[in-house]
Amino acid sequence: MDCACSFPDTGKTLVWPNHRLCDLLKIEHPIIQAPMAGAATPELAAAVSNAGGLGSLGCASMLPDGLRTAARQLRASTERPFNLNFFVFPRPDTSDAVLTQVIDRLRPYYKELSLDEPSRRLPPIGPGFDDEKLELLLEIRPPVVSFHFGIPDAAAVAKLKEAGIVVISTATNVAEARQLADGGADAVIAQGWEAGGHRGSHAPNRPGDGVGTLALVPQVVDAVKLPVIAAGGIADGRGIAAAFALGASGVQIGTGFLSCDEAGTDGPRRALIRAATDMDTMVTDAFTGRAARARRTRFALEMEVNRAHLPDFPQMVALSAPLGEAGAKGDFAFHLYGQAAALNRELPAGELMQTLVAETGEVFEALFDRQIDACVSEVSAR
Ligand SMILES: Cc1cc2nc3c(=O)[nH]c(=O)nc-3n(C[C@H](O)[C@H](O)[C@H](O)COP(=O)(O)O)c2cc1C
Repeated sequence: MDCACSFPDTGKTLVWPNHRLCDLLKIEHPIIQAPMAGAATPELAAAVSNAGGLGSLGCASMLPDGLRTAARQLRASTERPFNLNFFVFPRPDTSDAVLTQVIDRLRPYYKELSLDEPSRRLPPIGPGFDDEKLELLLEIRPPVVSFHFGIPDAAAVAKLKEAGIVVISTATNVAEARQLADGGADAVIAQGWEAGGHRGSHAPNRPGDGVGTLALVPQVVDAVKLPVIAAGGIADGRGIAAAFALGASGVQIGTGFLSCDEAGTDGPRRALIRAATDMDTMVTDAFTGRAARARRTRFALEMEVNRAHLPDFPQMVALSAPLGEAGAKGDFAFHLYGQAAALNRELPAGELMQTLVAETGEVFEALFDRQIDACVSEVSAR
């Protein structure tokens, strides 16, 4: 697959300055549409793959039959590579003491919304990635699998790679990037603080802990020999060109695809993103038990005051979700998006891909032409 793109109107060709990710993933443009459980549909992923990027599906909460169906749907809509994404977390084991503490904390909200007492029965949940999911992946054999919150054990990674599956995962700091490289990853997603959705941190941490994309990407590039994929706050050609300037071999964009026609984003969320500003969001663990960048709501803000211990991810969802469903005015709603949402375009995904590629080409051209012009005038002035 050629890592280049011709623009018929101008006769120009964009050649990506770094081919490593395109070569690894066998794609034309080093742009990954982020897996977004619930929001990334097979239609969205197929449209991105067909446009030369890598479409992804967030499969964290899918049951085996749903996953088989989604993969079949994807294969029927694209012959190009695509990515299936899973969470890696230990079996949650919330103690009675933590449960009592959080229920005391949530009781006033439940009362305010005329809900019954919060349930003491949390759903039994297995580990995020287990042998059953591994077998399922070996059966489906997607071209690419990505992980969030870490990477499965070495034996599982080896089996995926032996099956010809490319394995990538997320790091939110340099130490995690090194762990992924040691754990057998083929590429590392460097997820900066700006990113919408869950922080891919390998262990739960305080919601205030995070490194911005601009600081993180070059340090990860220096720390590992693998291709690095920049993620977080990238929404247009300026962001993509900047990621390459930092040494990245590609980008992963989530929020930017939420406004595409094919995304599973519902009407109210589309309206929120249409009106978004740079200050709309915050990082909070109040909804799921793990840090995620989401809309700044009354619930998220109030849960930061005198922080309570929260049930293990994702059991907290069972306690916060009834509030979101019952709450008026979005005070309790869980809306995941990133700091760059105001840059979103409402386009079909294929058109957004074309726009992103064209914009990046324009930025490279403007930067390099100006640089060459400046050198030329400097020389002639001497
Ligand atoms: C709505 C939403 C859901 C997400 N769900 C997932 C997910 O299921 N798996 C995953 O690896 N990353 C998920 N992410 C994080 C993305 O992979 C990526 O790191 C992030 O979107 C990049 O930042 P940006 O939103 O500023 O583009 C999600 C992001 C958003 C916005």
